[in-house]
Amino acid sequence: MLAEQAGALTGLATTVGYTVLFGVLLWVLVRVSAWLRRIPCLDLQGRWVVVTGCDSGIGQGVLAALSQRGAKVIACCLTNEGARAAMDAGAAWAPCADLKHDAQILELAREINSRSGSALWGLVHTAGTVLPGFVDYQPASHYREVMSVNFHAPVILTQQLLPALRLSRGRVVLVSSVDGIVSLPGNAPYDASKFALEAYADALRVELSFCDVSVSVINPSTMRTPMAREFFPAHRRTWQEMARQSPEGPWRQLWPEEWLERYVELNTAQLDRIAEDPRGAVDDIVHALEAVRPRLRYLSGRLAKTLFYLLWLMPEHWSFRFKRLTVQPPPPRTPK
Ligand SMILES: NC(=O)c1ccc[n+]([C@@H]2O[C@H](COP(=O)([O-])OP(=O)(O)OC[C@H]3O[C@@H](n4cnc5c(N)ncnc54)[C@H](OP(=O)(O)O)[C@@H]3O)[C@@H](O)[C@H]2O)c1
Repeated sequence: MLAEQAGALTGLATTVGYTVLFGVLLWVLVRVSAWLRRIPCLDLQGRWVVVTGCDSGIGQGVLAALSQRGAKVIACCLTNEGARAAMDAGAAWAPCADLKHDAQILELAREINSRSGSALWGLVHTAGTVLPGFVDYQPASHYREVMSVNFHAPVILTQQLLPALRLSRGRVVLVSSVDGIVSLPGNAPYDASKFALEAYADALRVELSFCDVSVSVINPSTMRTPMAREFFPAHRRTWQEMARQSPEGPWRQLWPEEWLERYVELNTAQLDRIAEDPRGAVDDIVHALEAVRPRLRYLSGRLAKTLFYLLWLMPEHWSFRFKRLTVQPPPPRTPK
């Protein structure tokens, strides 16, 4: 009897031992392959790279990382203060343009082509804007503004700079979002703009592969930048704008002010908890520029690699149920 028990215990210990060993080996393999992927391979010294959205956040981080590597960064900014700070941070040149306006994008592209002597290694589209709010109280102008900056601007600028990128067999990096693969409630204009950017990137990637220009998409989850910090205050501003435009509209009973205040308070605290260091996204963008074989897609951030990856892959009726739970507190039920 005792011998039988001892045998069973030895068998159990062996199984546990092998399982732990397998787990450790798997972990080592994952870490080593992640480390190997990170080994920089191309020297960016002296290469021209255009980065939009350098006034703040991820764009500012990319500018710093590329300047450290000796790249000649054309840091596109929205404001003069941003441009001055970009020059102090090592930009070769920091032009200002409001990417909502086609004419300013075309002028920017003309100047970039003449400055860089038509030898462009990289084009990183980081500039982006978000105007959150539920669809009942989203002014139509918000869809136009967000689409202009997040979608039309990268499309126009890329087209103008393609000859220079083709010459150097360079890189295009499009900063999308996890919202570009999983659309979440309360942010429809932004979600739509990033989905459009993803569709554009898919087509562009194949078309440019014939001339060895690579296209990478970056999908960050929530990062600690001004965009994330301003998200819920901006949500409140959208509600207030609709309250000015349509003070007596039926939308106001569906999304009352008391509900909005609770929603903003609860979700601001939640966002503070989940926001991550933007350096993860910056590292991925730099990898897309300096790796011999850049990846097609970078899921940047813990939540992007886990929760959003699962939501992206799971059956739609499951992700629909999950997304409903993200609206906390839910709005009052529509009266029958
Ligand atoms: N932070 C996140 O949680 C997160 C998550 C997923 C994806 N992303 C994406 O990451 C990118 C960078 O965002 P971020 O987090 O670094 O936010 P950010 O700090 O607000 O950076 C966005 C940049 O775009 C610029 N910009 C906005 N409107 C513009 C316009 N009309 N013309 C020219 N430039 C304009 C902003 O200039 P000003 O600073 O002068 O306004 C700013 O420099 C965006 O594409 C965003 O969609 C961010």
